[in-house]
Amino acid sequence: MTVPLSRAAKSQRTTDSPISFYIQKAFENPEIVSFAAGLVDEDSLPVDPVRAAATELLSDPVAARAALQYGSTQGAPKLREQVLKLVCDADGAKPGELNLTPADVCITTGSQQLLYLLGEVLFDAGDIVITEAPSYFVYHSLLQSHGAKVLTVPMDDDGMRVDLLDALLERLRREGQLPRVKLVYTVDYFQNPTGLTLSVPRRKQLVDVVKKYSTAHRILILEDAAYRELRFTGSDLPSVKRFDPTNEFVVYTSTFSKPFAPGLKTGYALMPRDAMAPVLHLKGSHDFGSTNLAQHLLTRLIASGEYAKQAEVLRGVYKQKAEAMLAALDEHFADVPCARWTVPAGGFYVWLTLDGVDTGPDGPLVQAALDAGVMYVPGQYGHVPDEAGRVPKSECRLCYGVATPEQVTEGVRRLRKAAGAIGLARTGARAVVGA
Ligand SMILES: Cc1ncc(COP(=O)(O)O)c(C=O)c1O
Repeated sequence: MTVPLSRAAKSQRTTDSPISFYIQKAFENPEIVSFAAGLVDEDSLPVDPVRAAATELLSDPVAARAALQYGSTQGAPKLREQVLKLVCDADGAKPGELNLTPADVCITTGSQQLLYLLGEVLFDAGDIVITEAPSYFVYHSLLQSHGAKVLTVPMDDDGMRVDLLDALLERLRREGQLPRVKLVYTVDYFQNPTGLTLSVPRRKQLVDVVKKYSTAHRILILEDAAYRELRFTGSDLPSVKRFDPTNEFVVYTSTFSKPFAPGLKTGYALMPRDAMAPVLHLKGSHDFGSTNLAQHLLTRLIASGEYAKQAEVLRGVYKQKAEAMLAALDEHFADVPCARWTVPAGGFYVWLTLDGVDTGPDGPLVQAALDAGVMYVPGQYGHVPDEAGRVPKSECRLCYGVATPEQVTEGVRRLRKAAGAIGLARTGARAVVGA
């Protein structure tokens, strides 16, 4: 008999992502239209600009050696300057107005690494993190791994209900739990998973609320702006960071994965100085620097304007897919009274609610959808169970990132067929709750 491995508590709390199953299914059966994986559009990946930048870089021996050498833990200085300009330009602010310099920027191995490292810096087991309900599945897994306690605040069409965040923090203060509250996490642009965006008044209000309860220690806001550059309707909104002129309360993180190429796996963060130092110490232990070659390539691609061009191309690509999905939902679900869905202004996601239908992994719709040749992510993965262990079970995350517009249209048709197969009538839902 094999002698068992003795695993640390943290490892025992860390599980595979619940959506790996759905990603695997799609790989196994290419006929399935997958709305499950949050992957980017394949055809528009920037092969030519990256080839040109790589050729140029590698043709210059001095530049090539610099790129093929180790970099620094904090990231390539030029790229940090460019990131600062990118974010400040988007916010219509000078770095000085936000008390920011390139020393306040860190380049990471995707924004995911920052989410992890900041958690490592902040959370002891039992510490409290407040997220939107629902929120980014992978972040929830990460919080579980850290042993953090997750409390949630509902959303509406304007994003997180900041008034309810205020009420929650007030309750925690009364109960003497405020010392355990470390962080409020928001995916504030075209949220994964709902596609919803935090409104401008709530951005300011969010900083004000967090400041109000930061009496004995500072509660941080983690602003995950991963999809910000993929807006295809309306104008950009100022970041939450824009309302933090002293650079004290908001860690802003984003990524080159979504608006450019995830294969470069490069993200970044702007953060308060007393958060930066411990993050860098940990990052030093992890990798002492994200891949230098990718950073040097990105520096060139930003400087040449190719990065901005690509982001513009992608906005068009995702607009077309979003329109295909919304048109198909209108066609197939408009006369289903229990159905409603979000209308994103950017990003990859539509959140479909089918009141009364069990959309969960053990419910009938998942299997019926697979039988019909379409896949979605059960919305319950975006929620944390309440005290009684319950999670909402009537929601689906539909990602139009990777499917072509034609596949998007076909996928929604198949989803309607699947819903019909489990008895969802045009007059409403059959009672399949808890089935
Ligand atoms: C909301 C959100 N944050 C962060 C990430 C991490 O992306 P990356 O590590 O590629 O930057 C993702 C990826 O899907 C995401 O959806």
